[in-house]
Order: sequence, then C-alpha cells, then structure tokens
Amino acid sequence: MSSAENKIDTLESLPHHVAIIMDGNGRWAKQKGKPRAFGHKAGVENVRSAIKTCLELGIGGLTVFAFSTENWNRPKKEVGILMDLFLTSLTKEVAELNKSGVRIKFIGDRSAFSKKLQKQINDSEQLTKDNKKLAFNIAANYGGRWDIVNAAKTICQRVENGELSAEQFDAELLHSETALSDLPEPDLFIRTGGEHRISNFLLWQLAYTELYFTDVFWPDFDRKCFEQALSSFSTRQRRFGHTGEQVKKEQVAK
Ligand code: IPE
Ligand code: IPE
Ligand code: MG
Repeated sequence: MSSAENKIDTLESLPHHVAIIMDGNGRWAKQKGKPRAFGHKAGVENVRSAIKTCLELGIGGLTVFAFSTENWNRPKKEVGILMDLFLTSLTKEVAELNKSGVRIKFIGDRSAFSKKLQKQINDSEQLTKDNKKLAFNIAANYGGRWDIVNAAKTICQRVENGELSAEQFDAELLHSETALSDLPEPDLFIRTGGEHRISNFLLWQLAYTELYFTDVFWPDFDRKCFEQALSSFSTRQRRFGHTGEQVKKEQVAK
C-alpha cells in the first residue's frame, strides 16, 4: 500500500457523496498538441479511476458532470464526438461496473439524445439498479436550472391535478422532485481545470457542500489528486449556520 493510501485510511471524515465537474479535457489535449477529441477520450477513461477510488474508500455516491445543457453550443463536430464517446464507453464499461456493484443513473434531459444512446442509458440503469456499493450518477444534458424548473413543473402539475395545494409547496417538496433526491446532498464538490465557477451544475444540491478547486486538468486527476481533495475536505469545519463553538460541543457530545 502506498503512503498516500495509508494517509487516507487515517482521515477522520470522508465524504459520503462527491460531485465532480470534470473540466479541462480540451486544454489538456492542446497542451500535448493534440485535438480536443483526444482529451475527451482521456477524460472518459479517467472516470474509471475516480470510480475505483470511491469503491476502494467506501464513498457511496459519485456524481459527475459529463455534458451540460450549455455544451450543445459547442461546434457540432465536438458535440458529435462526445455523443459517440458516451455511447461507446457506456457499452464497453457497463458489465464491469455492474460486477463491481455500481448503480448507474443518468440525470438530465435524455430526450435530446439519439434513440440508440437513450436505449443504452435505459439498459445500463436497468441492469445496475439493485447495486449498492456505489451510486454513480452521470449528469448529461443536465443543468442545475433545468433540474429546479423540472421539479417545480412537476409540482405545478400536481397542484393543477388537485393532488396538492399551493400552500404545501416547500423546500422539502421541491427537493423530493429534484434529480438526486434519493441521495444525501454532496458533501464535497471538486472542479478540475482551474476555473472557479459552478457552470450550472447542481445549484439546488450544493447549498452546503464543501467546494474544492484544482488547476489539474481532468485527465490528469489521479488517485493522488483525489486524495488531496479528500484531505482538504477532512480539515473543514462544517457549521451549517451554527458557531464553531456549537459545532465543537456537538462533536464532543457524540
Ligand atoms: C470538460 O472539458 C468536458 C466537457 C465539458 C464535455 P472541456 O472540454 O470543457 O475542456 P476545456 O475546459 O475546454 O479545457
Ligand atoms: C462544465 O464545463 C461542464 C462539464 C464539465 C460537463 P464547461 O467547460 O462547459 O464550463 P464553462 O463553459 O467553462 O463554464
Ligand atoms: Mg471546460
């Protein structure tokens, strides 16, 4: 076992759910004098390593941003390459992920994808739905604003149908209709690639998530980089609006 792995074993608190904006594929490729597609391919391959780390450390939830609602604005050719990559890698990886106990779920509006990709998405979810080791969520054609609007729309429909009254509309109800309502909210958010923004990722769910930014481009974000993020997380004091003293007292009482 490497010394880095030893270090992780002694960490007091690991997150239960990690959310990652996997950014920097294009710049990673450019740095190497290669086309952006080369970076996307390496980026997709690196997802396997993040899943492996979560499985080994017992992190139960991983949500990755694969394609945003705004990424349709990219050149048609790049969008096409990304769609092909999603289809081929999902087809290739699903059996192994299933064997490892990974439950795959896609969040986002899948209706915009090709029929073939939609079928592969549905089949992968169906095959892995009872797995318990890692809840792995892929945000594809996902946007935080889409998620909130979608949840609100569902509730409006229920009000219209007479199932609910407008007075019953509260944060808990809205949350129950959002894409990740079956999981605890992410404890740790990681963005690779040097940008310090949320880019319309999990707007609702990140309210109290610890944020971690690194300049490392996604294809280079390896186990050691992941452990650095986890180390940073373990030093944070999460106060949720309380004072530091209150939190300490609470910890002593436990
Ligand atoms: C992230 O890498 C992958 C997607 C958004 C699909 P980018 O493609 O955004 O890479 P950079 O940010 O241009 O380097
Ligand atoms: C966010 O990255 C989306 C994904 C990683 C899928 P972008 O590269 O699209 O974000 P911006 O445009 O730099 O904000
Ligand atoms: Mg980017």
